[in-house]
Amino acid sequence: MGNLQIAIDGPAGAGKSTIAKKLAERLNITYIDTGAMYRALTYKVLKEKIEINSKDKIIKLAEDTSITLLHEDVYIDGHLVKEEIRSQEVTKHVSYVAQIPEVRKILVDLQRKIAADHSVVMDGRDIGTYVLPNAHIKVFLTASIEERANRRYTELLQKQQQINFTDVINSIKERDKIDTEREFAPLVKAADAIIIDTTGLDVEVVVEKIQQITKNKLENQ
Ligand code: DC
Repeated sequence: MGNLQIAIDGPAGAGKSTIAKKLAERLNITYIDTGAMYRALTYKVLKEKIEINSKDKIIKLAEDTSITLLHEDVYIDGHLVKEEIRSQEVTKHVSYVAQIPEVRKILVDLQRKIAADHSVVMDGRDIGTYVLPNAHIKVFLTASIEERANRRYTELLQKQQQINFTDVINSIKERDKIDTEREFAPLVKAADAIIIDTTGLDVEVVVEKIQQITKNKLENQ
């Protein structure tokens, strides 16, 4: 077998990045947060004050921007971006940037290149359906909207961001809607993905479960 590919997809707040990161650590393979790539580009769109509906300008920007991943860090034109790509401003606009097919193709090429060179746990929205359709393991993580919003809310409070719970629920619902209804590579469960509902589940339990599924699969190859 070549490099191992584990695809973790699901809606915002389902626990993807926390779980994918821990799983990659346990398996000692590379973790790729594809959402961070869309966020990094959106951060640059906002920084350059490009209108969010100026599709052509955003495509041009994507073509002229270097996005690199090193360990868990994302660099945009050589600059490390961390908390700035997690701001509410970026979160609010990212789904609009991510629905542009030309932008997706540029980032997907990058994601596939990394997976060609390394064993990966990759999390996103279209990993099992489009980016790595032959992934060895595909997991679709979900959780109730209340739980997903609650997780985001707690996370934002910890970062001392001013926010109210209703705004968080509405923002997640809006992002889910754009992500699932876009035409090109929308958020959808791959036919061969295993669904795990993480509502009320401990992170460790979910990581353990996926690790076990991976072990069984590799033993039966
Ligand atoms: O996982 P996240 O919340 O950081 O992702 C931010 C946004 O990026 C998400 O709302 C949709 C987009 N995205 C995408 O379209 N495809 C991916 N593979 C990952 C993220």
